[in-house]
Amino acid sequence: MRRYSRLRGVIALVLVAVCVLELLLVAFGGSGETNQDLHREESLVGALAGVKSKSRPSDEAHEHAQKTQPSAPTDNRTASEGGTQTSYSIDEVIANLSKPWVGNETRKVGIRRKLDSVMNATEYAVLTKQFTVLGQNLTFAIAPSVVRNLTNEVYQMLPEQSPFSTLKMKRCSVVGNGGILKHSYCGKAIDGSDFVFRCNAAPLKGYQQHTGRKSNMTSINPGGVIAAKYKRLPDIGHRNRFLTDMKAYGDLLIPVYGVNINAYTTSMLALRLLHQKGSTTRGLIINPDHFRGLQDMWSEMGLRSRMTTGFYLASVALSVCNSTDLYGFWPFAKGPNHRAVSYHYYDRLNISKGVHNFNWEFDVLYRLHMGGVLQMHAGPCT
Ligand SMILES: *[C@@H]1O[C@H](CO)[C@@H](O)[C@H](O)[C@H]1NC(C)=O
Ligand SMILES: *[C@@H]1O[C@H](CO)[C@@H](O)[C@H](O)[C@H]1NC(C)=O
Ligand SMILES: *[C@@H]1O[C@H](CO)[C@@H](O)[C@H](O)[C@H]1NC(C)=O
Ligand SMILES: *[C@@H]1O[C@H](CO)[C@@H](O)[C@H](O)[C@H]1NC(C)=O
Ligand SMILES: *[C@@H]1O[C@H](CO)[C@@H](O)[C@H](O)[C@H]1NC(C)=O
Ligand SMILES: *[C@@H]1O[C@H](CO)[C@@H](O)[C@H](O)[C@H]1NC(C)=O
Ligand SMILES: *[C@@H]1O[C@H](CO)[C@@H](O)[C@H](O)[C@H]1NC(C)=O
Ligand SMILES: *[C@@H]1O[C@H](CO)[C@@H](O)[C@H](O)[C@H]1NC(C)=O
Ligand SMILES: *[C@@H]1O[C@H](CO)[C@@H](O)[C@H](O)[C@H]1NC(C)=O
Repeated sequence: MRRYSRLRGVIALVLVAVCVLELLLVAFGGSGETNQDLHREESLVGALAGVKSKSRPSDEAHEHAQKTQPSAPTDNRTASEGGTQTSYSIDEVIANLSKPWVGNETRKVGIRRKLDSVMNATEYAVLTKQFTVLGQNLTFAIAPSVVRNLTNEVYQMLPEQSPFSTLKMKRCSVVGNGGILKHSYCGKAIDGSDFVFRCNAAPLKGYQQHTGRKSNMTSINPGGVIAAKYKRLPDIGHRNRFLTDMKAYGDLLIPVYGVNINAYTTSMLALRLLHQKGSTTRGLIINPDHFRGLQDMWSEMGLRSRMTTGFYLASVALSVCNSTDLYGFWPFAKGPNHRAVSYHYYDRLNISKGVHNFNWEFDVLYRLHMGGVLQMHAGPCT
């Protein structure tokens, strides 16, 4: 069994999380995997995308990666900032991402089938009345020892049907919050999609040229955003500001049965507010079994820490949409033209390394791009 250790302290430090670098923070806590398993699983990822990484890290690098941080595809520039190995050059990645993208329908369908074999996201990614039973036990996604039953109060707040049941034919964008979005002018392209997923209710006002304004669903992290920006909703002032701010985002996707009881309590408070009379924003609950299922699937393929919500949403989009475009996913300190890239598009923080395995996630998403399964956008949109 894999064990995760939570870094509660860090959660308090990070204000508003990026999706890609999201703050469901965990460090990899140990595993009985052998290098051989890793190689086998990683090549499965390659096979899924039909694209192999240019050079696989050496066994020594893997050994090192297992003992320390999950390690990263870094180029020479970032290697000197603390990377441990060179898998491929970021310049080459940028050059490849700027080439015309060629989709591969066969692979897209294959990946969707693989993802849906865990649990059909269209039906089950979000808890609905249709597929739950009043009083049933729900095991927390990240803390399997914590179980809560589906109370009547929560059950009454569930939608009848999955919000994804109509999306199969749609073009979706998943917008991460990476600094790569700054000066991207991708707003129009993003707004041109049928359905836009966003992460952690990141600010849009003042950034819409780059982020777009359309928003159909955003994830929101009770331990992060609701705690940091709304102080866990203690009074009418914070609650009203929360409800007003959330109007810009469409449905809120909340990991109610997620990390721990604190987050559960905060989530429940948010859900109740969203269901008050006058609120126009719908609060949806991530199905913890689906989240855990995807986590386990990606873990089997080598993900060494908890999935970020950005990666989770990208996985959901691959299941429920006809096509998936990614924006704002870029875990490197340098972008096109060697421009410095901040942590988020709305701040100037340096990308923080260490806790996340967003490099692994990026590697997978990049290979899915190269394999024609989804389209990742890194350079400016023209
Ligand atoms: C990285 O370093 C290698 C040798 O150390 C060199 O051949 C290569 O050109 C460098 N790549 C970049 C992108 O600087
Ligand atoms: C970039 O694309 C070329 C041509 O498809 C490929 O040979 C090369 O391995 C790619 N580089 C990376 C880093 O993926
Ligand atoms: C599309 O993907 C399939 C399955 O991986 C592969 O066999 C086929 O060669 C790919 N087509 C193109 C044009 O790359
Ligand atoms: C998932 O559910 C949708 C909606 O019911 C259905 O159209 C689709 O075929 C299902 N996918 C799989 C792999 O069963
Ligand atoms: C659900 O939990 C509540 C307390 O949280 C308890 O009163 C109730 O009996 C439980 N229902 C079931 C069906 O377990
Ligand atoms: C839910 O779990 C509790 C213990 O955590 C158990 O006593 C109860 O029987 C379970 N209820 C159902 C419906 O499985
Ligand atoms: C789904 O996307 C493919 C290309 O990615 C396109 O050829 C096809 O027409 C789309 N289907 C629908 C129903 O939009
Ligand atoms: C997505 O949200 C926009 C508003 O931001 C709305 O106009 C559009 O109809 C929504 N699309 C879907 C598929 O729900
Ligand atoms: C951010 O990174 C730059 C370049 O590596 C460095 O000069 C600067 O001191 C860093 N800032 C902080 C706050 O760490």
